[in-house]
Amino acid sequence: MRDELPRLVAETSPSGRCALVSDETVAELWGARVAKLLEEAGLDATVATFPAGEAFKTRQTWVAITDALVAAGLGRDCCLVALGGGVVGDVAGFVAATYLRGVSFVQVPTTTLAMIDASVGGKTGVDHPSGKNLIGAFHTPSAVLADPAFLETLEPRRRAEGYAEAVKHGAILDGSYAEWLADRAEPLLAGRAGDVERAVVRSVEIKAEVVSEDEFEAGRRQLLNFGHTVGHALESASGYALPHGQAVAVGMVAEAWIGEVLGVTAPGTAAQLRRLVRAFGLPVGHPGLRDPERLVARMAWDKKVRGGVVHMVLLEEVGRASTERGATRPVPSAELVDALRRLDSGVSS
Ligand SMILES: NC(=O)c1ccc[n+]([C@@H]2O[C@H](COP(=O)([O-])OP(=O)(O)OC[C@H]3O[C@@H](n4cnc5c(N)ncnc54)[C@H](O)[C@@H]3O)[C@@H](O)[C@H]2O)c1
Ligand SMILES: [Zn+2]
Repeated sequence: MRDELPRLVAETSPSGRCALVSDETVAELWGARVAKLLEEAGLDATVATFPAGEAFKTRQTWVAITDALVAAGLGRDCCLVALGGGVVGDVAGFVAATYLRGVSFVQVPTTTLAMIDASVGGKTGVDHPSGKNLIGAFHTPSAVLADPAFLETLEPRRRAEGYAEAVKHGAILDGSYAEWLADRAEPLLAGRAGDVERAVVRSVEIKAEVVSEDEFEAGRRQLLNFGHTVGHALESASGYALPHGQAVAVGMVAEAWIGEVLGVTAPGTAAQLRRLVRAFGLPVGHPGLRDPERLVARMAWDKKVRGGVVHMVLLEEVGRASTERGATRPVPSAELVDALRRLDSGVSS
């Protein structure tokens, strides 16, 4: 399937000049093969890489990649090819959004998380020491090429992380999809192409449906933030040592529980989510939850905060987000702290 890449790049880049942006791990595993595909098709590819991991999704990396494009003399009609996971997609997308006021880019996701979630929706950006994704832009790729063959080299633990976002898609809109995922956890984790493709297709459908109605995140799109208010706070509190997919898994269980405490979410929903994420071997708790005050203070940095109050997506049940009062609702900090304090005993009882 990745053989289609040169055609996709040639379509978006009339000059035939492109930059292959990747992290060092992915570049080592796949860079030469992908660069060869581009070169064999007569495309001129400049390679620009940065060290792997969320810790490098920074303004400094944005500078380094931008400088590489300037040094190569790439013009407005070039195309960036983002080869890697969500970090590469977000950074390369943000470079593409800003270089010469915007050039086109093609996403080639190599993690389940990037295939299932991060490559859709046009959000690009970098982190700030105070919080995740605080600097960025909306910039839609001209094409996304998701080839499950890339997953061969991805560690099983990493493969699982993408399915946290898939469970989230099911949790907000399609309960039977969430249950199907848990049933098929084994082949999905093994990277069986048919199952992976089915998950990618259904997740992209759900995300595209929500995003197409609300490209710039004024309303319904915020449903995709389910699990992310607590998740992002845990991630930034851990100094980004906690991977995004794991943070989202923990965040979904915690936020379902908060909804139960507030009387919005059906009793037992947090326990059900716990079972669904556990099917993928994903974590359901984190030491960061033991200090609710600190965590809630972190949430204040989240972009979903308005007027000092945390706004959160709450479920009615698995498969149905609560939209009666808009996509999110305000939850006072004291109630958040109180619910988080009772999380462990509440979900297991
Ligand atoms: N833009 C969006 O809409 C959106 C949505 C969800 C998540 N995200 C972002 O995505 C990021 C998380 O993405 P991720 O989990 O893919 O992380 P990642 O990009 O850091 O990849 C995880 C690790 O796997 C390695 N890797 C990638 N592909 C590989 C392969 N095929 N074989 C071997 N190793 C491989 C990477 O080098 C890295 O070390 C977060 O920064 C998150 O904020 C963005
Ligand atoms: Zn996410």
